[in-house]
Amino acid sequence: MMPETRSVLVTGGAGFIGSHLAEAFLADGKKVVVLDDLSTGHRSRVPKGANFVEGDIRRFDLEGLLKDANVDTILHYAAQIDVRKSVEDPVFDAEVNVLGTIRIAQAALAAGVAQIVFASSGGAIYGDPEGFAADENHPTNPVSPYGVAKLAGEKYLFGLAHGTSLVVTALRFANVYGPRQDGRGEAGVIGIWMKTLLEDGECLINGGGDQSRDFVFVGDVVKANLAAAARRKAGVINVGTGVETSVNRLYDLVAAACGTPRPARRGPAKSGEQMRSVLDVTKSRTALGLTTLVALPNGLSRTAAWFRRAPSPA
Ligand SMILES: NC(=O)c1ccc[n+]([C@@H]2O[C@H](COP(=O)([O-])OP(=O)(O)OC[C@H]3O[C@@H](n4cnc5c(N)ncnc54)[C@H](O)[C@@H]3O)[C@@H](O)[C@H]2O)c1
Repeated sequence: MMPETRSVLVTGGAGFIGSHLAEAFLADGKKVVVLDDLSTGHRSRVPKGANFVEGDIRRFDLEGLLKDANVDTILHYAAQIDVRKSVEDPVFDAEVNVLGTIRIAQAALAAGVAQIVFASSGGAIYGDPEGFAADENHPTNPVSPYGVAKLAGEKYLFGLAHGTSLVVTALRFANVYGPRQDGRGEAGVIGIWMKTLLEDGECLINGGGDQSRDFVFVGDVVKANLAAAARRKAGVINVGTGVETSVNRLYDLVAAACGTPRPARRGPAKSGEQMRSVLDVTKSRTALGLTTLVALPNGLSRTAAWFRRAPSPA
């Protein structure tokens, strides 16, 4: 027999963003199940109170899990997140990020799940922005297999849910940073620099440092998910700050947050690197109520405090 209380499933809930989500939905009074294969995540990050299931979204009996736990909302965060790895092994990237996502959708439909919130990427799917900033209607021109797979994941979810009662929400994140991040994600440079500076090392800036990104604090990403689930909001929504920050400016802020204002070494520009990226976040204000966001210096000092305490996974 199905348990009466409905649950939230967080795939990738042992990872950076997913573990924050699991904590927040528990704190919000929800029952939380985490499915993670621990390929990059850590068991120690799964909060007490969440039901942890070790498994790979490419193979696991997802429909059985959804029915057993009576899941009504899936936060789909499990993914291969390394852009460089997606270039080296696009087949593996697509197996996890495209086929894995299709399996999630099929299981959700079979188990009568109400909503899937999908972790998409505004940083990776718009490509070099045509005019500023990129809103949800900006053309999608991903330049990496990772970006292509995220876009395909969205399309499959909306396509498979079409004509059914399944609500699909694709949150297109900017570069997410915060406690528990490491050097792999789309804001990985912050983790790399913080670790280096706190160990008295010298950081490297590739190219002129004029490249720009939109950095959003993980706490604001959590708020976006809570609102998307509470409002059962369907559609594509950018989640970022709308603020464009250059790599040079970011470095100064990171060094200040670490209390180590030392200059970075300069290296050659990375070929093929996207020069600018910033999201138009107007829709997230109205659709998700995301009006007050954590400012970058504040978020960086909270992140640096975590790196000082726990530079290792836990
Ligand atoms: N970090 C960012 O800046 C950013 C930006 C845009 C989108 N996203 C997306 O958000 C999600 C979470 O990213 P993150 O930065 O927390 O990364 P992360 O690597 O910390 O988390 C991913 C989690 O998924 C798990 N996982 C990977 N493959 C799996 C599989 N086949 N089956 C089950 N579990 C698997 C990993 O063990 C890990 O715990 C990803 O979908 C990512 O693409 C992240």
